[in-house]
Amino acid sequence: MGMWWIVAVAILAHTASAAVREYAWEVEYKFGWPDCKEGMVMAVNGQFPGPTIHALAGDTIVVHLTNKLATEGLVIHWHGIRQLGSPWADGAAGVTQCAISPGETFTYNFTVDKPGTHFYHGHYGMQRSAGLYGSLIIDVAKGKKEPLRYDGEFNLLLSDWWHEDVLSQEIGLSSRPMRWIGEAQSILINGRGQFNCSLAAQFSSTSLPTCTFKEGDQCAPQRLHVEPNKTYRIRLASSTALASLNFAVQGHKLVVVEADGNYITPFTTDDIDIYSGETYSVLLTTDQDPSQNYYITAGVRGRKPNTPPALTVLNYVTAPSSQLPTSPPPETPRWNDFDRSKNFSKKIFAAMGSPSPPETFDERLILLNTQNLIEGFTKWAINNVSLAVPGTPYLGSVKYNLRTGFNRSSPPKDYPVDYDIMTPPRNRNAKQGNVSCVFPFNVTVDVILQNANGLNANASEIHPWHLHGHDFWVLGYGEGKFKPGVDEKTYNLKNPPLRNTVALYPYGWTALRFVTDNPGVWFFHCHIEPHLHMGMGVVFAEGLNRIGKVPDEALGCGLTKQFLMNRNNP
Ligand code: C2O
Ligand code: CU
Repeated sequence: MGMWWIVAVAILAHTASAAVREYAWEVEYKFGWPDCKEGMVMAVNGQFPGPTIHALAGDTIVVHLTNKLATEGLVIHWHGIRQLGSPWADGAAGVTQCAISPGETFTYNFTVDKPGTHFYHGHYGMQRSAGLYGSLIIDVAKGKKEPLRYDGEFNLLLSDWWHEDVLSQEIGLSSRPMRWIGEAQSILINGRGQFNCSLAAQFSSTSLPTCTFKEGDQCAPQRLHVEPNKTYRIRLASSTALASLNFAVQGHKLVVVEADGNYITPFTTDDIDIYSGETYSVLLTTDQDPSQNYYITAGVRGRKPNTPPALTVLNYVTAPSSQLPTSPPPETPRWNDFDRSKNFSKKIFAAMGSPSPPETFDERLILLNTQNLIEGFTKWAINNVSLAVPGTPYLGSVKYNLRTGFNRSSPPKDYPVDYDIMTPPRNRNAKQGNVSCVFPFNVTVDVILQNANGLNANASEIHPWHLHGHDFWVLGYGEGKFKPGVDEKTYNLKNPPLRNTVALYPYGWTALRFVTDNPGVWFFHCHIEPHLHMGMGVVFAEGLNRIGKVPDEALGCGLTKQFLMNRNNP
């Protein structure tokens, strides 16, 4: 490994239990075999997926990130971490920092304030699609009690994988006419999948041949080894570029206990839907026949699947590890049974004792999601503006008051009342822009995400929306157009779940609420990588006069570069 080792030191800080966890990471491309076929992966210290960070609530995480890519910038976003007091460490290129140039090192430094299941990923270009991701697990602080009881835990990071390299994908999406990337070749569990073969080939339900990998191959599945009559916590996170997934363990019930780093009211289910950007914890009790093994599956939903489900095996240690289950894997529910998907979402309530939302809002945005054609280029737009991230990071523009860093006119807070969400847009055009919504400190903001028909008739897609810097309350979901003054009455204000990612269903709306109590500039976008690439996002800025010190290294590009040079050498 040469110099690519992890410098993982946990230094005890002054406070009794909080530690500083410090890592030196180098990111580079290398060849890998995520699904048994050779391809290029982005690796952290030689590893794909990147190393898992384990920390305790209250710890400080320091990552010295070195860009070893020959020709590309780099950032890493800590998905689910709110970055209280450290908005510059959020890792969104063009929003909170400049991309790190090849050969340079940038240091992230932030605290993780509460326990939860999270992950990290690239947030520049489409580097998440290229495989730049890893897990970020925060446990309860020392001396604090975990409210869940379990005997062991597993951590499964789900992703999707294409054989076409990401640069070609990106060029295709930016071409006129657009060349769509199509469906993924494989679904990966902890970076491992099996292309063109199946772990369940002995059953007629799959027409794929038996996989011939050797144990120890990079694409061999990680089996989950369990003892009978115990309870395990399975942490799930989805870093997919495109796929919505359904996760199930053959013959076992799952008790869902955590969503996006927040405890929820536990409920029992056979399978769970997980959208890109979401995380869950489920508890599984090993109460089945201990002489058998069981399939674990993650299959595609929400889009017409053209990718076989990912498979691995739950191995009772009382059965041989290599023994295959005797019945076929659980079938993924029908891809377009959206009622089933919505019913699952509607089962999620905050755990007792969770903070409840303010009763009313101060400001409200109604954000219409449309697919558009701008001069022949396919784009996604929000209230008719397709986001193009500016060359000067927003955080630098607002911190140093650089008037020309982005367009200061406030973006539309609503869309025309006569817009028909059930048909393709009558005017397919939209604007490209880089406006941001500026909020005062400590106000309550409601966001209504409004879905619509895309460019083709009878097509509306799922968009999982993710907010940086906050958890928000999910107040409700509805069909058709949101009706102001009416639909608020259906809100759940009693125990809405706190999340950082939420699904917007076809032809429907989703309502969420948050308080602008975290000074900074925060990305809010669809977590589908190609959609984000095509402009499906907005930027929120809040509490701007309370933003603390921002390290100069975060802002050495665009207009801030010149500004900082003049300031430092007057
Ligand atoms: Cu996980 Cu801005 O994203
Ligand atoms: Cu989307």
